[in-house]
Amino acid sequence: MDFVKLEIREQIATVTIDRQTKLNALNKAVLDELEQCFLDIKKNAEIRVVILTGAGEKAFVAGADINQFPSMTPEEAYTFSKRGQAVFSLIESSRKPVIAAVNGFALGGGCELAMACHLRYASENAVFGQPEVKLGVIAGFGGTQRLPRIVGTGHALDMLLTGKMIKAKKAAEIGLVNDVFPLSELMSRVGEIAGVMLQQAPQAQAFTLRAVNGGVELPLEHGLDLEAAAFQDVFRTEDRIEGARAFLDHRLPEFKNK
Ligand code: COA
Repeated sequence: MDFVKLEIREQIATVTIDRQTKLNALNKAVLDELEQCFLDIKKNAEIRVVILTGAGEKAFVAGADINQFPSMTPEEAYTFSKRGQAVFSLIESSRKPVIAAVNGFALGGGCELAMACHLRYASENAVFGQPEVKLGVIAGFGGTQRLPRIVGTGHALDMLLTGKMIKAKKAAEIGLVNDVFPLSELMSRVGEIAGVMLQQAPQAQAFTLRAVNGGVELPLEHGLDLEAAAFQDVFRTEDRIEGARAFLDHRLPEFKNK
């Protein structure tokens, strides 16, 4: 792959978007490679946790590639929006936790990509924004939908209607990112968080993601049904027996992802 690199180490996959001359902006080729990469990750049983980041020290992803916009017809715009949404939904629906390590500009499609990940950690120099209105367009890769769901309508419309850029600290204050680290420590700190996830039961994490992602938009009653069904399913796994036994035996569990 030319723009998306996949590195696997000790069950943790690091996906790096590398198109540094354009601040890792998303064009068709990058989206295609990103999709292929996450399809590969889905099939690879060795991978347990995924970290997604941008190459270099300046940008996570500075948005969809603006070079495509001038000649784009309304019909092509619809297709482009649906394409980006599909790739990002593939990431969001992953049964393995996906962590965004936001190492710089996360603008437009970059902010939307980070929001499709399950957790977001940012470096102190990271900048978030949905600047599409400055270009006469709107967010089209999920920004009008995921941003209000994550930070609430007030903060979301503040960003979406003004196109303002906010720094990592402010992003943490409004709940857009989970935590902020110095740039030099970002990957090691996120690696530590991924390491903590590796110690937990993988099937339980997958069922947690299913219950949270599937239930968050449902009326509470239906969400609770979904939770009970996931709770039932997790009791079909071998790891839940190991988890309880290890606790009762005062030892660490040895989960087998079964
Ligand atoms: N699409 C295409 N190219 C982009 C891009 C994008 N979203 N974001 C940055 N680039 C390109 C620039 O055009 C420039 O290319 P060039 O050297 O061939 O001219 C290169 O990346 C470096 O960017 P530059 O603008 O020179 O860096 P900067 O430090 O002065 O500014 C930003 C950084 C992120 C503030 C600025 O690049 C920017 O505003 N980018 C667009 C962000 C945006 O609107 N994203 C939403 C798109 S829908």
